Amino acid sequence: MHRPTADAEWWRTAVIYQVYPRSFGDADGDGIGDLPGITERLDHLARLGVDAVWLSPFYRSPQKDAGYDVADYRDVDPLFGTLADADALIARAHELGLRVVVDLVPNHTSDQHVWFRQALADGPGSAARARYMFREGGGERGEEPPNNWQSVFGGSAWTRVSERPDAPGSSWERDGQWYLHLFDSSQPDLNWDSPEVHDEFRSILRFWLDRGVDGFRVDVAHGLVKAPGLPDWAGHVRMVEGTDVEEGLSDGDVIAPDASDDAVTGRSPMFDQDGVHEIYREWRAVLDEYDGERMLVAEAWVEPLERLALYVRPDEMHQAFNFDFLVTRWDAAALRASIAGSYAANDAVGAPTSWVLSNHDVVRHASRLGLAETGKGPNGIGAEDTQPDAELGLRRARAASLLMLGLAGSAYVYQGEELGLPEHTTLDDSLRQDPAWWRTGHAEKGRDGCRVPLPWRSDAPGLGFSPTGRTWLPQPESWSELAPDVQEQQEDSTLRLYRRALALRAEHRLGAGAMELLPAGEDVVAVRNTARAAVVVIANLGAEPVALPAGHEVLVASGPLDGDTLPTDTAVWLRERA
Ligand code: NOJ
Repeated sequence: MHRPTADAEWWRTAVIYQVYPRSFGDADGDGIGDLPGITERLDHLARLGVDAVWLSPFYRSPQKDAGYDVADYRDVDPLFGTLADADALIARAHELGLRVVVDLVPNHTSDQHVWFRQALADGPGSAARARYMFREGGGERGEEPPNNWQSVFGGSAWTRVSERPDAPGSSWERDGQWYLHLFDSSQPDLNWDSPEVHDEFRSILRFWLDRGVDGFRVDVAHGLVKAPGLPDWAGHVRMVEGTDVEEGLSDGDVIAPDASDDAVTGRSPMFDQDGVHEIYREWRAVLDEYDGERMLVAEAWVEPLERLALYVRPDEMHQAFNFDFLVTRWDAAALRASIAGSYAANDAVGAPTSWVLSNHDVVRHASRLGLAETGKGPNGIGAEDTQPDAELGLRRARAASLLMLGLAGSAYVYQGEELGLPEHTTLDDSLRQDPAWWRTGHAEKGRDGCRVPLPWRSDAPGLGFSPTGRTWLPQPESWSELAPDVQEQQEDSTLRLYRRALALRAEHRLGAGAMELLPAGEDVVAVRNTARAAVVVIANLGAEPVALPAGHEVLVASGPLDGDTLPTDTAVWLRERA
Protein backbone atom coordinates (compact mmCIF):
# COMPACT_ATOMS: atom_id res chain seq x y z
CA MET A 1 0.00 0.00 0.00
CA HIS A 2 2.88 2.38 0.74
CA ARG A 3 6.64 2.09 0.35
CA PRO A 4 9.05 3.04 3.17
CA THR A 5 10.21 6.64 3.29
CA ALA A 6 13.85 6.93 2.35
CA ASP A 7 14.03 10.71 2.44
CA ALA A 8 15.14 12.04 5.75
CA GLU A 9 13.33 15.39 5.87
CA TRP A 10 11.86 15.80 9.35
CA TRP A 11 8.37 16.77 8.20
CA ARG A 12 7.82 13.50 6.37
CA THR A 13 7.46 11.57 9.60
CA ALA A 14 6.93 14.24 12.29
CA VAL A 15 4.33 14.23 15.02
CA ILE A 16 3.20 17.85 15.27
CA TYR A 17 1.35 19.15 18.31
CA GLN A 18 -1.15 21.97 17.80
CA VAL A 19 -1.10 24.67 20.44
CA TYR A 20 -4.10 26.98 20.54
CA PRO A 21 -2.42 29.91 22.29
CA ARG A 22 -5.41 31.36 24.14
CA SER A 23 -6.11 28.01 25.79
CA PHE A 24 -2.77 26.29 26.38
CA GLY A 25 -1.31 28.08 29.38
CA ASP A 26 -1.60 31.55 30.90
CA ALA A 27 1.44 33.21 32.48
CA ASP A 28 0.14 36.73 33.17
CA GLY A 29 -3.01 35.72 35.03
CA ASP A 30 -5.66 37.36 32.81
CA GLY A 31 -7.29 33.99 32.11
CA ILE A 32 -6.22 33.97 28.46
CA GLY A 33 -3.26 31.88 27.42
CA ASP A 34 -0.13 33.63 26.19
CA LEU A 35 3.29 32.97 24.67
CA PRO A 36 5.20 32.93 27.99
CA GLY A 37 2.57 30.47 29.25
CA ILE A 38 3.40 28.21 26.31
CA THR A 39 7.17 28.56 26.74
CA GLU A 40 6.86 27.59 30.42
CA ARG A 41 5.05 24.42 29.46
CA LEU A 42 7.10 23.25 26.47
CA ASP A 43 8.66 20.57 28.66
CA HIS A 44 5.30 18.82 28.62
CA LEU A 45 5.58 18.49 24.84
CA ALA A 46 9.18 17.34 24.92
CA ARG A 47 8.23 14.66 27.45
CA LEU A 48 5.23 13.67 25.40
CA GLY A 49 7.63 12.88 22.57
CA VAL A 50 6.34 15.05 19.73
CA ASP A 51 8.69 16.51 17.14
CA ALA A 52 7.18 19.93 16.53
CA VAL A 53 4.65 22.43 17.71
CA TRP A 54 2.23 24.35 15.49
CA LEU A 55 0.91 27.56 17.02
CA SER A 56 -2.47 28.93 15.94
CA PRO A 57 -2.32 32.72 15.28
CA PHE A 58 -0.88 34.98 17.97
CA TYR A 59 -0.54 38.06 15.77
CA ARG A 60 -2.01 41.49 16.43
CA SER A 61 -5.74 41.07 15.96
CA PRO A 62 -9.09 42.37 17.20
CA GLN A 63 -9.85 38.69 17.95
CA LYS A 64 -13.16 38.64 16.10
CA ASP A 65 -12.31 35.12 14.95
CA ALA A 66 -9.87 34.19 17.72
CA GLY A 67 -6.86 35.61 15.88
CA TYR A 68 -7.72 34.35 12.38
CA ASP A 69 -8.46 38.02 11.71
CA VAL A 70 -4.94 39.46 11.52
CA ALA A 71 -4.37 43.21 11.78
CA ASP A 72 -0.56 43.04 11.71
CA TYR A 73 1.25 39.93 10.49
CA ARG A 74 4.57 41.09 11.88
CA ASP A 75 3.63 41.71 15.47
CA VAL A 76 2.34 39.76 18.47
CA ASP A 77 -1.02 40.70 19.95
CA PRO A 78 -0.54 42.26 23.41
CA LEU A 79 -2.97 39.63 24.68
CA PHE A 80 -0.33 37.00 23.94
CA GLY A 81 2.87 38.95 24.63
CA THR A 82 5.55 40.57 22.51
CA LEU A 83 7.86 39.73 19.64
CA ALA A 84 10.55 39.09 22.24
CA ASP A 85 8.24 36.47 23.79
CA ALA A 86 7.86 34.84 20.37
CA ASP A 87 11.64 34.77 19.96
CA ALA A 88 12.02 33.25 23.43
CA LEU A 89 9.42 30.59 22.63
CA ILE A 90 11.16 29.63 19.38
CA ALA A 91 14.54 29.52 21.13
CA ARG A 92 13.29 27.36 23.99
CA ALA A 93 11.50 24.99 21.62
CA HIS A 94 14.66 24.57 19.58
CA GLU A 95 16.66 23.94 22.75
CA LEU A 96 14.25 21.12 23.53
CA GLY A 97 14.57 19.72 20.01
CA LEU A 98 11.08 20.85 18.98
CA ARG A 99 10.47 22.51 15.61
CA VAL A 100 8.09 25.46 15.44
CA VAL A 101 5.37 25.92 12.84
CA VAL A 102 3.33 29.13 12.83
CA ASP A 103 -0.01 29.93 11.25
CA LEU A 104 -0.26 32.06 8.13
CA VAL A 105 -3.62 33.61 7.24
CA PRO A 106 -3.47 34.71 3.58
CA ASN A 107 -7.10 34.49 2.46
CA HIS A 108 -8.23 37.52 4.42
CA THR A 109 -6.99 40.17 6.81
CA SER A 110 -8.79 41.81 9.70
CA ASP A 111 -10.93 44.82 8.84
CA GLN A 112 -8.57 46.66 11.22
CA HIS A 113 -5.54 45.92 9.03
CA VAL A 114 -3.98 49.16 7.78
CA TRP A 115 -4.62 48.05 4.19
CA PHE A 116 -8.34 47.67 4.70
CA ARG A 117 -8.68 50.96 6.56
CA GLN A 118 -6.88 52.61 3.70
CA ALA A 119 -9.18 50.86 1.22
CA LEU A 120 -12.22 52.28 3.00
CA ALA A 121 -10.72 55.75 3.14
CA ASP A 122 -9.45 55.88 -0.45
CA GLY A 123 -12.71 54.83 -2.06
CA PRO A 124 -13.73 53.07 -5.27
CA GLY A 125 -11.13 52.68 -7.98
CA SER A 126 -8.21 53.30 -5.61
CA ALA A 127 -5.06 51.18 -5.47
CA ALA A 128 -5.92 50.36 -1.86
CA ARG A 129 -9.27 48.85 -2.87
CA ALA A 130 -7.54 46.69 -5.48
CA ARG A 131 -5.93 44.68 -2.67
CA TYR A 132 -9.36 43.39 -1.63
CA MET A 133 -12.44 42.06 -3.39
CA PHE A 134 -14.59 45.19 -3.74
CA ARG A 135 -17.46 45.14 -6.24
CA GLU A 136 -20.43 47.27 -7.17
CA GLY A 137 -23.75 45.93 -5.96
CA GLY A 138 -26.65 44.79 -8.11
CA GLY A 139 -30.20 46.15 -8.23
CA GLU A 140 -31.20 49.65 -9.20
CA ARG A 141 -29.12 51.43 -6.60
CA GLY A 142 -26.48 48.83 -5.94
CA GLU A 143 -28.45 47.62 -2.96
CA GLU A 144 -28.09 43.92 -3.87
CA PRO A 145 -24.88 42.01 -3.08
CA PRO A 146 -22.73 41.36 -6.17
CA ASN A 147 -23.55 37.65 -6.11
CA ASN A 148 -25.33 35.09 -3.97
CA TRP A 149 -22.34 33.67 -2.10
CA GLN A 150 -22.81 32.74 1.53
CA SER A 151 -20.22 33.08 4.27
CA VAL A 152 -18.81 29.84 5.69
CA PHE A 153 -19.94 31.19 9.08
CA GLY A 154 -23.48 31.85 7.79
CA GLY A 155 -25.19 34.87 6.20
CA SER A 156 -24.14 36.73 3.06
CA ALA A 157 -20.47 36.71 2.07
CA TRP A 158 -20.75 40.42 1.17
CA THR A 159 -20.91 43.58 3.25
CA ARG A 160 -21.68 47.01 1.89
CA VAL A 161 -19.64 50.03 2.89
CA SER A 162 -20.39 53.70 3.08
CA GLU A 163 -18.43 55.82 0.63
CA ARG A 164 -19.17 59.09 2.41
CA PRO A 165 -18.65 58.29 6.07
CA ASP A 166 -17.95 61.93 6.90
CA ALA A 167 -20.79 63.51 4.93
CA PRO A 168 -23.36 65.12 7.23
CA GLY A 169 -26.28 62.84 7.95
CA SER A 170 -24.86 59.94 5.98
CA SER A 171 -22.27 58.48 8.31
CA TRP A 172 -24.15 55.22 8.82
CA GLU A 173 -25.72 54.98 5.43
CA ARG A 174 -24.25 52.12 3.49
CA ASP A 175 -24.41 53.46 0.01
CA GLY A 176 -21.19 52.23 -1.51
CA GLN A 177 -19.40 49.20 -2.83
CA TRP A 178 -19.50 45.74 -1.35
CA TYR A 179 -16.55 43.67 -0.16
CA LEU A 180 -16.28 39.91 -0.10
CA HIS A 181 -15.68 37.96 3.11
CA LEU A 182 -15.88 34.19 2.93
CA PHE A 183 -15.84 34.22 6.74
CA ASP A 184 -16.92 37.00 9.14
CA SER A 185 -17.54 40.56 7.90
CA SER A 186 -14.48 41.52 9.98
CA GLN A 187 -12.36 39.29 7.69
CA PRO A 188 -12.27 40.90 4.21
CA ASP A 189 -10.87 38.60 1.51
CA LEU A 190 -7.65 39.69 -0.16
CA ASN A 191 -7.41 39.96 -3.94
CA TRP A 192 -4.76 37.49 -5.03
CA ASP A 193 -4.71 39.00 -8.52
CA SER A 194 -2.86 41.92 -6.97
CA PRO A 195 0.96 41.74 -7.26
CA GLU A 196 1.19 43.76 -4.05
CA VAL A 197 -0.57 41.00 -2.15
CA HIS A 198 1.91 38.47 -3.53
CA ASP A 199 4.86 40.66 -2.53
CA GLU A 200 3.50 41.26 0.92
CA PHE A 201 3.04 37.60 1.74
CA ARG A 202 6.47 36.64 0.47
CA SER A 203 7.82 39.31 2.76
CA ILE A 204 5.75 38.03 5.72
CA LEU A 205 7.12 34.54 5.12
CA ARG A 206 10.65 35.93 5.24
CA PHE A 207 9.92 37.90 8.39
CA TRP A 208 9.10 34.71 10.30
CA LEU A 209 11.66 32.51 8.53
CA ASP A 210 14.32 35.00 9.58
CA ARG A 211 13.10 34.66 13.17
CA GLY A 212 13.75 30.95 12.95
CA VAL A 213 10.38 29.29 12.42
CA ASP A 214 10.47 25.88 10.79
CA GLY A 215 7.26 26.16 8.83
CA PHE A 216 3.80 27.54 8.24
CA ARG A 217 0.32 26.12 8.51
CA VAL A 218 -1.56 27.86 5.71
CA ASP A 219 -5.11 28.85 6.63
CA VAL A 220 -7.85 28.30 4.03
CA ALA A 221 -5.18 27.31 1.52
CA HIS A 222 -7.86 26.37 -1.02
CA GLY A 223 -9.62 29.74 -0.89
CA LEU A 224 -7.23 32.43 -2.09
CA VAL A 225 -8.24 32.44 -5.75
CA LYS A 226 -11.88 32.76 -6.77
CA ALA A 227 -13.43 31.80 -10.12
CA PRO A 228 -13.20 34.64 -12.67
CA GLY A 229 -16.31 36.79 -12.74
CA LEU A 230 -17.40 35.52 -9.30
CA PRO A 231 -20.35 33.58 -10.72
CA ASP A 232 -23.44 32.88 -8.63
CA TRP A 233 -23.46 29.51 -6.99
CA ALA A 234 -26.40 27.62 -5.58
CA GLY A 235 -24.34 25.48 -3.22
CA HIS A 236 -23.35 26.45 0.26
CA VAL A 237 -20.14 25.81 2.13
CA ARG A 238 -20.33 25.69 5.92
CA MET A 239 -18.06 24.81 8.79
CA VAL A 240 -19.88 21.51 9.15
CA GLU A 241 -23.05 19.93 7.99
CA GLY A 242 -26.12 21.86 9.01
CA THR A 243 -29.77 21.59 8.26
CA ASP A 244 -29.51 23.52 5.03
CA VAL A 245 -26.60 21.77 3.40
CA GLU A 246 -25.80 18.33 2.20
CA GLU A 247 -24.67 15.86 4.81
CA GLY A 248 -21.01 15.41 5.47
CA LEU A 249 -19.85 18.81 4.30
CA SER A 250 -16.89 20.47 5.88
CA ASP A 251 -15.44 23.93 6.14
CA GLY A 252 -14.66 24.76 2.55
CA ASP A 253 -15.99 21.50 1.23
CA VAL A 254 -17.08 21.39 -2.30
CA ILE A 255 -20.56 20.23 -3.11
CA ALA A 256 -20.03 17.91 -6.03
CA PRO A 257 -22.24 18.17 -9.09
CA ASP A 258 -25.24 15.99 -8.55
CA ALA A 259 -27.65 15.46 -11.38
CA SER A 260 -30.38 14.58 -8.92
CA ASP A 261 -30.22 17.96 -7.26
CA ASP A 262 -30.95 20.97 -9.43
CA ALA A 263 -29.95 23.38 -6.70
CA VAL A 264 -26.37 22.21 -6.79
CA THR A 265 -24.48 23.43 -9.78
CA GLY A 266 -20.98 22.07 -9.51
CA ARG A 267 -17.63 22.87 -7.96
CA SER A 268 -17.64 25.90 -5.72
CA PRO A 269 -16.33 29.06 -7.43
CA MET A 270 -14.77 30.23 -4.17
CA PHE A 271 -12.62 27.21 -3.35
CA ASP A 272 -9.98 24.99 -4.91
CA GLN A 273 -9.45 27.01 -8.06
CA ASP A 274 -6.45 25.93 -10.11
CA GLY A 275 -4.86 29.37 -9.74
CA VAL A 276 -3.98 28.79 -6.07
CA HIS A 277 -1.16 26.46 -7.02
CA GLU A 278 0.92 29.20 -8.58
CA ILE A 279 0.97 30.96 -5.19
CA TYR A 280 2.33 27.90 -3.42
CA ARG A 281 5.05 27.49 -6.04
CA GLU A 282 6.12 31.05 -5.28
CA TRP A 283 6.19 30.36 -1.57
CA ARG A 284 8.03 27.09 -1.97
CA ALA A 285 10.76 28.96 -3.80
CA VAL A 286 11.07 31.34 -0.84
CA LEU A 287 11.28 28.50 1.68
CA ASP A 288 13.82 26.67 -0.43
CA GLU A 289 16.18 29.62 -0.14
CA TYR A 290 16.45 28.92 3.58
CA ASP A 291 18.36 26.11 5.17
CA GLY A 292 16.90 23.78 7.75
CA GLU A 293 14.05 22.06 5.86
CA ARG A 294 11.33 24.67 6.39
CA MET A 295 7.84 23.42 5.54
CA LEU A 296 4.32 24.43 4.48
CA VAL A 297 1.19 22.52 5.46
CA ALA A 298 -2.11 23.25 3.76
CA GLU A 299 -5.41 23.62 5.53
CA ALA A 300 -7.48 22.76 2.49
CA TRP A 301 -10.90 21.18 2.86
CA VAL A 302 -10.80 19.70 -0.60
CA GLU A 303 -12.03 16.46 -2.01
CA PRO A 304 -11.42 13.99 -3.47
CA LEU A 305 -7.98 13.10 -2.11
CA GLU A 306 -6.51 13.35 -5.62
CA ARG A 307 -7.38 17.06 -5.73
CA LEU A 308 -5.89 17.58 -2.29
CA ALA A 309 -2.69 15.89 -3.46
CA LEU A 310 -2.24 18.67 -6.03
CA TYR A 311 -1.33 20.97 -3.12
CA VAL A 312 1.61 18.76 -2.18
CA ARG A 313 3.26 18.28 -5.54
CA PRO A 314 7.06 18.49 -5.34
CA ASP A 315 7.24 22.24 -6.01
CA GLU A 316 4.29 23.25 -3.79
CA MET A 317 3.51 22.56 -0.15
CA HIS A 318 5.10 19.79 1.87
CA GLN A 319 1.97 18.44 3.53
CA ALA A 320 -1.79 18.92 3.65
CA PHE A 321 -4.05 18.04 6.56
CA ASN A 322 -5.79 14.79 5.81
CA PHE A 323 -9.34 15.78 6.75
CA ASP A 324 -10.69 12.80 4.85
CA PHE A 325 -9.39 10.64 7.71
CA LEU A 326 -10.81 13.04 10.34
CA VAL A 327 -14.34 12.97 8.91
CA THR A 328 -14.42 9.22 8.30
CA ARG A 329 -17.12 7.40 10.26
CA TRP A 330 -16.14 4.93 12.97
CA ASP A 331 -16.45 2.11 10.51
CA ALA A 332 -13.68 -0.31 9.58
CA ALA A 333 -14.39 -0.44 5.84
CA ALA A 334 -14.57 3.35 5.63
CA LEU A 335 -11.32 3.75 7.57
CA ARG A 336 -9.52 1.15 5.46
CA ALA A 337 -10.64 2.98 2.34
CA SER A 338 -9.52 6.33 3.71
CA ILE A 339 -6.10 4.99 4.71
CA ALA A 340 -5.50 3.25 1.39
CA GLY A 341 -6.84 6.19 -0.62
CA SER A 342 -4.66 8.64 1.32
CA TYR A 343 -1.46 6.73 0.62
CA ALA A 344 -2.35 6.23 -3.04
CA ALA A 345 -3.03 9.94 -3.62
CA ASN A 346 0.01 11.25 -1.74
CA ASP A 347 2.44 8.59 -2.94
CA ALA A 348 1.54 9.53 -6.49
CA VAL A 349 3.08 12.97 -5.91
CA GLY A 350 5.85 11.90 -3.52
CA ALA A 351 4.35 13.64 -0.47
CA PRO A 352 3.92 12.24 3.03
CA THR A 353 0.41 11.44 4.12
CA SER A 354 -0.67 13.32 7.22
CA TRP A 355 -3.11 12.10 9.85
CA VAL A 356 -5.34 14.19 12.08
CA LEU A 357 -8.30 13.51 14.33
CA SER A 358 -8.94 16.80 16.15
CA ASN A 359 -8.24 20.51 15.90
CA HIS A 360 -9.71 23.83 17.06
CA ASP A 361 -12.50 23.71 14.44
CA VAL A 362 -14.16 20.36 15.14
CA VAL A 363 -15.77 18.57 18.09
CA ARG A 364 -12.95 16.79 19.97
CA HIS A 365 -12.70 13.18 18.87
CA ALA A 366 -13.22 11.86 22.41
CA SER A 367 -16.75 13.29 22.11
CA ARG A 368 -17.31 12.97 18.37
CA LEU A 369 -16.77 9.23 18.48
CA GLY A 370 -19.30 8.95 21.30
CA LEU A 371 -22.12 10.37 19.17
CA ALA A 372 -24.72 8.16 17.53
CA GLU A 373 -23.57 9.55 14.17
CA THR A 374 -19.80 9.49 13.92
CA GLY A 375 -18.05 11.30 11.07
CA LYS A 376 -17.29 14.99 11.23
CA GLY A 377 -20.09 15.70 13.66
CA PRO A 378 -22.03 18.91 14.29
CA ASN A 379 -20.54 22.39 14.58
CA GLY A 380 -20.52 22.32 18.37
CA ILE A 381 -22.76 20.64 20.93
CA GLY A 382 -24.95 22.44 23.45
CA ALA A 383 -26.53 21.48 26.76
CA GLU A 384 -29.93 20.82 25.18
CA ASP A 385 -28.49 18.59 22.45
CA THR A 386 -28.19 14.83 22.80
CA GLN A 387 -25.01 14.34 24.76
CA PRO A 388 -22.20 12.10 23.54
CA ASP A 389 -21.56 8.84 25.40
CA ALA A 390 -18.39 9.90 27.23
CA GLU A 391 -17.12 6.42 28.06
CA LEU A 392 -17.67 5.10 24.55
CA GLY A 393 -16.17 8.23 23.06
CA LEU A 394 -13.00 7.97 25.11
CA ARG A 395 -12.58 4.26 24.42
CA ARG A 396 -12.91 4.83 20.70
CA ALA A 397 -10.76 7.96 20.79
CA ARG A 398 -7.90 6.04 22.39
CA ALA A 399 -8.25 3.32 19.77
CA ALA A 400 -8.43 5.85 16.94
CA SER A 401 -5.35 7.68 18.22
CA LEU A 402 -3.35 4.49 18.56
CA LEU A 403 -4.35 3.51 15.04
CA MET A 404 -3.36 6.95 13.75
CA LEU A 405 0.02 6.97 15.51
CA GLY A 406 0.81 3.55 14.05
CA LEU A 407 0.49 4.81 10.49
CA ALA A 408 3.49 5.94 8.46
CA GLY A 409 3.61 9.63 7.58
CA SER A 410 3.14 12.68 9.74
CA ALA A 411 0.55 12.97 12.52
CA TYR A 412 -1.09 15.97 14.19
CA VAL A 413 -2.12 16.00 17.85
CA TYR A 414 -4.45 18.76 19.06
CA GLN A 415 -3.70 20.09 22.54
CA GLY A 416 -5.53 18.08 25.19
CA GLU A 417 -6.22 15.02 23.09
CA GLU A 418 -3.22 13.43 24.82
CA LEU A 419 -5.30 13.79 28.01
CA GLY A 420 -8.39 12.29 26.38
CA LEU A 421 -10.23 15.57 26.91
CA PRO A 422 -13.85 15.58 25.82
CA GLU A 423 -15.55 18.58 24.24
CA HIS A 424 -17.25 21.03 26.59
CA THR A 425 -20.79 20.12 25.57
CA THR A 426 -22.75 22.08 28.17
CA LEU A 427 -21.17 25.49 27.81
CA ASP A 428 -23.50 28.32 28.72
CA ASP A 429 -24.69 29.95 25.49
CA SER A 430 -24.05 33.40 26.94
CA LEU A 431 -20.31 32.63 26.92
CA ARG A 432 -20.03 31.63 23.27
CA GLN A 433 -17.61 33.64 21.15
CA ASP A 434 -17.41 31.85 17.81
CA PRO A 435 -18.74 34.13 15.03
CA ALA A 436 -20.58 31.11 13.60
CA TRP A 437 -22.85 31.19 16.68
CA TRP A 438 -23.98 34.73 15.81
CA ARG A 439 -23.93 34.52 12.07
CA THR A 440 -26.12 31.41 11.95
CA GLY A 441 -28.67 33.05 14.25
CA HIS A 442 -27.68 30.50 16.92
CA ALA A 443 -28.49 27.54 14.67
CA GLU A 444 -24.90 26.36 15.13
CA LYS A 445 -23.24 26.36 18.55
CA GLY A 446 -19.82 26.89 17.02
CA ARG A 447 -16.35 25.84 18.05
CA ASP A 448 -15.92 27.18 21.58
CA GLY A 449 -16.42 23.74 23.12
CA CYS A 450 -13.14 22.42 21.70
CA ARG A 451 -11.22 25.57 22.67
CA VAL A 452 -11.56 25.50 26.46
CA PRO A 453 -8.39 26.24 28.53
CA LEU A 454 -6.38 23.11 29.31
CA PRO A 455 -6.19 21.54 32.76
CA TRP A 456 -2.70 21.22 34.26
CA ARG A 457 -3.21 20.52 37.99
CA SER A 458 -6.25 18.87 39.47
CA ASP A 459 -6.11 20.69 42.83
CA ALA A 460 -5.43 24.22 41.57
CA PRO A 461 -8.01 26.92 40.82
CA GLY A 462 -8.76 26.93 37.10
CA LEU A 463 -6.98 23.55 37.06
CA GLY A 464 -3.63 25.31 36.99
CA PHE A 465 -4.23 27.03 33.65
CA SER A 466 -3.46 30.45 35.08
CA PRO A 467 -1.73 31.68 38.27
CA THR A 468 -4.93 33.54 39.24
CA GLY A 469 -7.24 30.62 38.50
CA ARG A 470 -8.97 32.64 35.79
CA THR A 471 -9.99 30.93 32.52
CA TRP A 472 -11.62 32.71 29.58
CA LEU A 473 -14.07 29.83 29.27
CA PRO A 474 -15.05 27.58 32.17
CA GLN A 475 -13.68 24.04 32.19
CA PRO A 476 -16.04 21.06 32.48
CA GLU A 477 -16.04 19.50 35.94
CA SER A 478 -14.93 16.13 34.59
CA TRP A 479 -11.62 17.68 33.57
CA SER A 480 -10.14 17.75 37.09
CA GLU A 481 -9.61 14.00 36.90
CA LEU A 482 -7.94 14.45 33.55
CA ALA A 483 -5.24 16.90 34.60
CA PRO A 484 -1.72 15.69 33.79
CA ASP A 485 -0.69 15.46 37.47
CA VAL A 486 -3.41 12.84 37.98
CA GLN A 487 -2.70 11.01 34.74
CA GLU A 488 1.02 10.81 35.53
CA GLN A 489 0.13 8.51 38.42
CA GLN A 490 -2.16 6.18 36.45
CA GLU A 491 -0.54 3.51 34.39
CA ASP A 492 -3.53 3.20 32.08
CA SER A 493 -4.10 6.93 31.60
CA THR A 494 -4.46 8.46 28.15
CA LEU A 495 -1.39 10.62 28.77
CA ARG A 496 0.75 7.57 29.45
CA LEU A 497 -0.76 5.81 26.44
CA TYR A 498 0.27 8.70 24.16
CA ARG A 499 3.74 8.85 25.67
CA ARG A 500 4.26 5.15 25.24
CA ALA A 501 2.91 5.15 21.69
CA LEU A 502 5.07 8.12 20.70
CA ALA A 503 8.18 6.55 22.21
CA LEU A 504 7.54 3.29 20.37
CA ARG A 505 6.76 5.14 17.17
CA ALA A 506 10.14 6.84 17.38
CA GLU A 507 11.98 3.68 18.43
CA HIS A 508 10.54 1.65 15.56
CA ARG A 509 10.66 4.57 13.10
CA LEU A 510 7.03 3.94 12.26
CA GLY A 511 6.69 7.32 10.58
CA ALA A 512 8.97 6.07 7.82
CA GLY A 513 7.66 2.52 7.55
CA ALA A 514 6.26 0.56 4.64
CA MET A 515 2.50 0.05 4.98
CA GLU A 516 0.53 -3.00 4.07
CA LEU A 517 -3.19 -3.50 4.59
CA LEU A 518 -3.74 -6.96 6.09
CA PRO A 519 -6.72 -9.16 5.44
CA ALA A 520 -9.00 -8.97 8.47
CA GLY A 521 -12.61 -9.34 9.55
CA GLU A 522 -15.22 -6.91 8.31
CA ASP A 523 -15.07 -4.78 11.46
CA VAL A 524 -11.31 -4.77 11.81
CA VAL A 525 -8.62 -2.46 10.49
CA ALA A 526 -5.27 -4.28 10.36
CA VAL A 527 -2.07 -2.91 8.89
CA ARG A 528 1.58 -3.89 9.00
CA ASN A 529 4.07 -1.06 9.38
CA THR A 530 7.58 -2.26 8.57
CA ALA A 531 10.53 -0.05 9.33
CA ARG A 532 13.09 -1.35 11.84
CA ALA A 533 10.86 -4.35 12.55
CA ALA A 534 7.37 -5.30 11.51
CA VAL A 535 4.72 -3.79 13.78
CA VAL A 536 1.14 -4.90 13.25
CA VAL A 537 -1.55 -2.37 14.16
CA ILE A 538 -5.03 -3.76 14.68
CA ALA A 539 -8.20 -1.90 15.61
CA ASN A 540 -11.43 -3.73 16.36
CA LEU A 541 -14.46 -1.55 15.62
CA GLY A 542 -16.96 -4.38 15.87
CA ALA A 543 -19.22 -5.36 18.74
CA GLU A 544 -17.53 -8.74 19.23
CA PRO A 545 -13.98 -9.39 20.46
CA VAL A 546 -11.57 -10.69 17.82
CA ALA A 547 -8.72 -13.15 18.29
CA LEU A 548 -5.21 -11.69 18.11
CA PRO A 549 -2.81 -13.44 15.73
CA ALA A 550 -0.52 -15.94 17.44
CA GLY A 551 3.22 -15.41 17.74
CA HIS A 552 3.11 -11.73 18.56
CA GLU A 553 4.24 -9.64 21.46
CA VAL A 554 1.96 -6.80 22.57
CA LEU A 555 3.77 -3.46 22.43
CA VAL A 556 0.89 -1.24 23.51
CA ALA A 557 -2.90 -1.41 23.60
CA SER A 558 -5.50 1.34 23.85
CA GLY A 559 -7.43 -0.58 26.50
CA PRO A 560 -7.30 -3.81 28.48
CA LEU A 561 -7.01 -6.96 26.39
CA ASP A 562 -9.05 -10.01 27.20
CA GLY A 563 -6.51 -12.82 27.09
CA ASP A 564 -5.64 -13.31 23.44
CA THR A 565 -8.58 -11.35 22.18
CA LEU A 566 -8.98 -7.72 21.25
CA PRO A 567 -12.17 -6.26 22.78
CA THR A 568 -14.54 -3.96 20.96
CA ASP A 569 -13.35 -0.42 20.17
CA THR A 570 -9.77 -1.26 21.11
CA ALA A 571 -6.52 -1.02 19.16
CA VAL A 572 -3.21 -2.74 19.69
CA TRP A 573 0.34 -2.70 18.32
CA LEU A 574 2.00 -6.09 18.03
CA ARG A 575 5.54 -7.06 17.19
CA GLU A 576 6.11 -10.28 15.33
CA ARG A 577 8.18 -12.61 17.53
CA ALA A 578 11.49 -13.45 15.90
C1 NOJ B 1 -9.73 27.95 9.32
C2 NOJ B 1 -9.34 28.12 10.76
O1 NOJ B 1 -8.85 26.91 11.26
C3 NOJ B 1 -10.57 28.60 11.47
O2 NOJ B 1 -10.43 28.57 12.86
C4 NOJ B 1 -10.90 29.98 10.97
O3 NOJ B 1 -12.11 30.41 11.55
C5 NOJ B 1 -11.06 30.00 9.45
N1 NOJ B 1 -10.04 29.24 8.78
C6 NOJ B 1 -10.99 31.41 8.93
O4 NOJ B 1 -9.70 31.91 9.04
